[in-house]
Amino acid sequence: MPIDLRDKGIIITGASSGIGAATAIECAKAGMHIVLNARREDKLKDIAHRIEKLGRKTTLVVGSVTDDGMTQRLLDEAERTLGGFHAVFSNAGYGLDQPAVDLDDASLRNIFEVNFFASVDLINSAARRLLEQKRQGHLLMNSSCLAKFTLPHHSAYSATKAAQNHFCRAMRLELRPDGIEVSSVHPITTTTEFFEVSQQRSGNEAFKGNVPDHAPRMFIQPPEKVAKAIVKCLRKPRPEVWTSHIVRATASFMTLFPSSFDLIMRKQAAREKAKLKVDI
Ligand SMILES: NC(=O)c1ccc[n+]([C@@H]2O[C@H](COP(=O)([O-])OP(=O)(O)OC[C@H]3O[C@@H](n4cnc5c(N)ncnc54)[C@H](OP(=O)(O)O)[C@@H]3O)[C@@H](O)[C@H]2O)c1
Repeated sequence: MPIDLRDKGIIITGASSGIGAATAIECAKAGMHIVLNARREDKLKDIAHRIEKLGRKTTLVVGSVTDDGMTQRLLDEAERTLGGFHAVFSNAGYGLDQPAVDLDDASLRNIFEVNFFASVDLINSAARRLLEQKRQGHLLMNSSCLAKFTLPHHSAYSATKAAQNHFCRAMRLELRPDGIEVSSVHPITTTTEFFEVSQQRSGNEAFKGNVPDHAPRMFIQPPEKVAKAIVKCLRKPRPEVWTSHIVRATASFMTLFPSSFDLIMRKQAAREKAKLKVDI
């Protein structure tokens, strides 16, 4: 039997744009109440307004997922305003588009703080609360297809996403006997602010516009597609959420045959290098 999501609470980080915002709207359409987090309050207010128009409750917790006490604030706010939470979607994150040798220590540590450590802190603390209260629930992290393979210039980003993926896998095995589901989400290229932010943070011009110019159109999806898949998973829990069977199969191929993958990617790496030279 699918789970009835009506009147259940969900906490979503990184809800001011892209996949987080689309998931918040989709959850509201499914009847859920939502705690929204991100740093840009104006954007969060717009999403909250859309959720309220759908007749659902919402509350904002503005700030960085890395702020001291943010996890407790999110969980407490869900208890105070929604009477608790059924699900948590740890989604806040960003990318870097830089050769590994150019990464400085601070950039590497910061991407792990946001994408991995903050995400683990939230999901682990949420699990502890559910266990204390002897309640069932569903915890999700937004990982990536790049958790399973990587691309040139994505070493740091992929490392954070693979770390999230493995953390979820182990937690799922540990918590299922207590009725707590843990899932990782593996989107492919999605039309969000992600690439713009990645470009800004990396200080290079390899991407023009919203999505990488080398991604074939069949591998580009709108955030709403990911959001729908996440709500489907909330209704009927599964270990991993994928929105492209082809990329999922390719990821398995790449794991089995790393040399073939390297051969294909060598061309890609050469293209990236040439672009950087032109940009400089
Ligand atoms: N787009 C893709 O192709 C793609 C593919 C696979 C996986 N993903 C993953 O999907 C997730 C969402 O990304 P997106 O594609 O939707 O990009 P996006 O539009 O840039 O959304 C990122 C969200 O995270 C928030 N955020 C960033 N740093 C934060 C922080 N320190 N504290 C709180 N919120 C923070 C941003 O809001 P504020 O700036 O307002 O804080 C924004 O709401 C990321 O984890 C990303 O790795 C994306």
